[in-house]
Amino acid sequence: MEKLGPIEVLEEVLAEHEVLRSMLLRVEVLSRSVLQGRYAASDELKEQVRELGNRFNQHLDREERVLVPALLDADAWGPERVERMHEEHARQREIMTEMWNRGSGGSPNILVFALIAWGFVRMLREDMAEEERISLNPRVLSEDVVTTSVEPE
Ligand SMILES: [Fe+2]
Ligand SMILES: [Fe+2]
Repeated sequence: MEKLGPIEVLEEVLAEHEVLRSMLLRVEVLSRSVLQGRYAASDELKEQVRELGNRFNQHLDREERVLVPALLDADAWGPERVERMHEEHARQREIMTEMWNRGSGGSPNILVFALIAWGFVRMLREDMAEEERISLNPRVLSEDVVTTSVEPE
């Protein structure tokens, strides 16, 4: 496992969340366009969902490589936070795969795909906010290990 300092991990992952949020916004706008009957946006929506999927997969892998060791080092709640992260990542990967299977391979219903993409955007926004509350905050990932024991609730 790669070892970075807790502040480095925090900054890197939060910056990645901001990149993802801007990609989520694009997917949200495009999925709404399709849902409102503007089918010209369909190809662009599929393309952006594909890009989001690739980027998000990289993000999950990166968190598992650098955030896991940082959380385990941070305080006594590390194993609990890590377990929760793995559960969440498994669920996110499953939904992402399901979404992509419906959006590619000649699935005729672009409205269903757009609706799933729209829901996926909202779910990921909530998941990222929750992750930031539980794990990605300076009370947890701090250089000072003595004062960082914050229960994940
Ligand atoms: Fe995550
Ligand atoms: Fe994340």
